[in-house]
Amino acid sequence: MAGRALSRRRAEGAVAAIERQEWLDTPSYRIEHVLGFGLNLLGGRAEQVRNALHGTRLGEPLHPVLNNIPLGAWGAAIVLDSVELLQGRPVRSGQTARACVGVGIVGGLAASLTGLADWQYTHDRPRRSGLVHGLLNVCALGLFTSSWRSRRPGRQRRGQLASGVGYLMVLASGHLGGTLVHRHQIGVDHSDHGLEPPRFVAVLPDRDLPEGVPTHVQAGGVGVILLRHEGQVVAVGEHCPHLGAPMVDGWLYENTLVCPWHGSRFDVGTGAVVAGPAVAPLPCYQTRLRDGQIELRRRTPDEELAHRGAAAQGQRRGAAPEQTGAGLAR
Ligand code: FES
Repeated sequence: MAGRALSRRRAEGAVAAIERQEWLDTPSYRIEHVLGFGLNLLGGRAEQVRNALHGTRLGEPLHPVLNNIPLGAWGAAIVLDSVELLQGRPVRSGQTARACVGVGIVGGLAASLTGLADWQYTHDRPRRSGLVHGLLNVCALGLFTSSWRSRRPGRQRRGQLASGVGYLMVLASGHLGGTLVHRHQIGVDHSDHGLEPPRFVAVLPDRDLPEGVPTHVQAGGVGVILLRHEGQVVAVGEHCPHLGAPMVDGWLYENTLVCPWHGSRFDVGTGAVVAGPAVAPLPCYQTRLRDGQIELRRRTPDEELAHRGAAAQGQRRGAAPEQTGAGLAR
């Protein structure tokens, strides 16, 4: 018990030490610039590539999903290697272990690209630990590639050693990755669904809402942004789901509300993400006008589904999604 507490303290101390290394910021920003330059070379396709790397279409971050491939495949190779070592002689599973290492390398490359895409939007402490997390993964990838090449008859041991060291690096990097999610909330949905009003509550006199200007109001226990757009009044969450930017500082662009921090764009009628890095939609609320007051409430699951369906249909037709139900019922 005392030993476990000690190792936990050491692990936390190591993470804290990494996060204090301000000198890591210089190479970090250089890498970010190179990355941005590379993506800009793709021209009109850059947004599609970005969306694919973040998992915007998927509706959840792609990086943690892909991470499971190298973790599982390399873990299986380690188990097979351990069986062979325990038996003390080469076994037929040697080629299976090599195949597992190969699958892990392919998955690791894909996970690295998605991780890099997510990491470029972090700052300060999470950016530093994210950089070390990435470097450890790159080293592990190199060791497993060397292991894959070495795993030929008569040279198995060298490959197994490289895999063993590589897996230790993957575990250390996994600890940093966990810290990024749990402590720094990277890759989690930052929109606030906690105290959304289940029944209509009045939030603002209709005459006080200007056209096209995001306006912050309080609805029950939750902050909401009201927007009058093309004769409709829409109500969306106050925080960007990506990293929690105040959407009241956002602006309208082609039927979307743009996040002021990293430029994610959300459909104003449905909250769906049109362009990342956000992957989760912006919460949308049902609105109506009563006695000159704008009222709103959270949507029921059926209303939510209806809106998502309308958005998907609109996107399939290549048109802007309809805003049925999102607008103000007069
Ligand atoms: S906070 Fe990053 S896109 Fe909004």
